Amino acid sequence: MKRYDVIIIGAGIAGLYASMNLPKSMKVLVVCKDIPWECNTFYAQGGIVTALDELDIPLHIKDTLSAGSYHNIKNSVEILSKESLDIRQDLLNRGMEFDRGESGELLYTKEAAHSTSRILHAGGDATGRYMHYFMMMQNRHLLQRNTLVYDLLIQKGRCYGVRAMVNYRPTTLYANHIIIASGGIGSLYEYNTNSRTVSADIHGICVEKGISLSDMEFMQFHPTVFVKTPFARKLLLTEALRGEGAHIVDDEGRRFLFDYDPRGELASRDIVSRAIFDYKRKTNKEVYLDFCMFEEKWFNRRFPNITKTFESLGYHLPKDRVPISPAFHYANGGIACDIYGRIPGIEGLYVAGEAARTGVHGANRLASNSLLEAVVFAKRVVDYILGSSMQYDNIPKFEKDYDTQLHKEHDKEIKEALRETMWKDVGIIRTKKGLLEAKNFIYDAKNRDIGRLLELRLNTATAIVNSALAREEPLGSHYIEDEES
Ligand code: SIN
Repeated sequence: MKRYDVIIIGAGIAGLYASMNLPKSMKVLVVCKDIPWECNTFYAQGGIVTALDELDIPLHIKDTLSAGSYHNIKNSVEILSKESLDIRQDLLNRGMEFDRGESGELLYTKEAAHSTSRILHAGGDATGRYMHYFMMMQNRHLLQRNTLVYDLLIQKGRCYGVRAMVNYRPTTLYANHIIIASGGIGSLYEYNTNSRTVSADIHGICVEKGISLSDMEFMQFHPTVFVKTPFARKLLLTEALRGEGAHIVDDEGRRFLFDYDPRGELASRDIVSRAIFDYKRKTNKEVYLDFCMFEEKWFNRRFPNITKTFESLGYHLPKDRVPISPAFHYANGGIACDIYGRIPGIEGLYVAGEAARTGVHGANRLASNSLLEAVVFAKRVVDYILGSSMQYDNIPKFEKDYDTQLHKEHDKEIKEALRETMWKDVGIIRTKKGLLEAKNFIYDAKNRDIGRLLELRLNTATAIVNSALAREEPLGSHYIEDEES
């Protein structure tokens, strides 16, 4: 029997930081569905927020609450900001190399809705990739790839382990503590910036087990994404570009965002995304990210990966402007938990990172708070586990197994149709009619002969649609308009 002290589902920043903080003496297993770098952390560009110092904490809290339309849980936001100083020190002590200036000082950048420059970055525009590599190197525990979790073993308010396809074979893994760090829900949307592995499976299992998902109506759309590629993951153009001074313009070069908000390009992400969507819809014009104000050498050094990626697509930055569209980027809501990542009512089960709803983000996440939230709250889960003596002796019998039925014949086409429906009806601007149509689509799909993984996706989609229907007034990234408007 395979039994561990801790199983961590997911090898992005939350899973790896949790693992790094668990002592070598513990038997820990980190699992990931595919290769470890197929995760959202790897694709994060902009950076990681930390309060600059004690004096900046109240301001960081204020910016986070204001971006979140004050729907945040204030205590969680305070924890996030206060603990960011120790986290930054811990990362630096362990040897994480953030970008520095000529005199060795840490460089901080700015992104939308931040009142000051407080975002650390690495490799210019490759913060996630650098942090992920760093954490992979720091991790001392077993990391097992090709492990697709399709069930949580829960009985009478206790989680005992997981069922997973390990290299395509059904396997049962037991542990005293199971940490969900499986990321968000990106694959539910036609246009998204997420890794292809982020497909809402664990959220769907939670729905099935009666575990609450919260704030699921608050899905975040990133304003500046290049969507004209055939690949599922669309290409992000980091908000740090606008933080450094890039403009959003229409065909004639007009900075139309000021028609919507006096902060223009630096309004919060929900406002900018909605403005672009609305402007395109009303005018039929193309919208671009324009970099012509930047000096070439500086730009190529500050944004080396974006420069190279777009070079291969025929764009020469910063000379050329790039057509953009908003795309799904981040789930502000998720699996409900407390400030130690504990999932209410289920002993031994925790959640951290994008999968979690800690209450930090409220109705709309402040840019680059996500990597910070992942490390702060992953550490809190670990601190709780290390202080607890919880374990079990007898493992109950678990009957049901879905093993070979993970996929069925028509799943692919239904999945595609779901992605289109979510984008069209549960996207940036929603109507009650559209949400009800999405609900009907999901209901019909669930009644077809489908595989387990699609069923889990549909469970999560149902949670998003139901939350969106329940909130009749717009708030933050949930924008619902009257049918007539
Ligand atoms: C970006 O680089 O624009 C994304 C940062 C984030 O998602 O917070």
